[in-house]
Amino acid sequence: MSSENLDRGLVLDAVRVTEIAAIAAWALVGHGDEKAADQAAVDAMRTALNDLEIDGEIVIGEGERDEAPMLYIGEKVGKGGPRKIDIALDPLEGTTLTAKAMANALAVMAWAPKGTLLNAPDTYMDKIACGPGYPAGIIDLDKAPSENVRALAAAKGVEPSAITVCVMDRPRHAEIIADLRSVGARVYLITDGDVAGVMNTADPTTGVDLYVGQGGAPEGVLACAALKCVGGQFQGRLIFRNADEKARAKRVGITDLDRKYDLHEIVRADAIFAATGVTNGALLDGVRYEGGFVHTHSLVMNSATRTVREVRMKRPV
Ligand code: FBP
Repeated sequence: MSSENLDRGLVLDAVRVTEIAAIAAWALVGHGDEKAADQAAVDAMRTALNDLEIDGEIVIGEGERDEAPMLYIGEKVGKGGPRKIDIALDPLEGTTLTAKAMANALAVMAWAPKGTLLNAPDTYMDKIACGPGYPAGIIDLDKAPSENVRALAAAKGVEPSAITVCVMDRPRHAEIIADLRSVGARVYLITDGDVAGVMNTADPTTGVDLYVGQGGAPEGVLACAALKCVGGQFQGRLIFRNADEKARAKRVGITDLDRKYDLHEIVRADAIFAATGVTNGALLDGVRYEGGFVHTHSLVMNSATRTVREVRMKRPV
């Protein structure tokens, strides 16, 4: 199946899975308990996946087998059959956002034919991303953030001060932020959730042109799947802080630890990406109960057809 596209009927299956996880996580919004919220989403997502006619393997999940009882890397999900699928998932992207009832928590998942997603270890990744419409290769992780701003500004025909860059608000990003501001770029700081941060670059309504900074490597793979569906650009490089993290990389088959990955090396075939809002955010509305119904708001995209669907679901409770 790896040279073929995933069958299009799977698009609706994928979004059903993220809807179910988002609804489960929503029950814990604002309760101050990250772990419980994550667990609710994990349980719901796993049950939903196991109900599908797929032969799925988790390649980006809740962690290695010894640290995650469910949806661990290597876990098989689904009822089996001919659809052999690599699955990257984050049942609750933004556990702190959920615990504190803050904006932009999502349930997210990407599917690609077996053997075509980068098996990223649970380390950090240096990331840079921009949306569609720019010449290939316009952004470069090895250039200063300010140089990337200048390149985007030139391509857009605007001054660098008209460029907005999304960055996670972390002390480790102080130099990046100072460099961006030195050329007048507007810095849009987020507290968590860099899958949504990267996706912002592909949605003109957010005003975000560029994403830069270090976040989770698994989230990098998910963000790449999303950008692949809309034609954006991404580069990432894994960061290893100690021997344990290097050992994790080895276990998932990564030998070149310094490699700079391009989007199409991270997601090597066409992919389906689905995300459902848990809390309200720039991209998606959160779960809402009203009039005896539960309402969800999702995006589901297929890179093979470049189809983007915005799905609003309601069902009686
Ligand atoms: P969780 O949902 O697992 O809490 O991850 C949230 C997140 O903000 C990711 O979006 C991001 O990639 C990562 O954490 C950044 O890690 P850190 O908080 O260590 O900077």
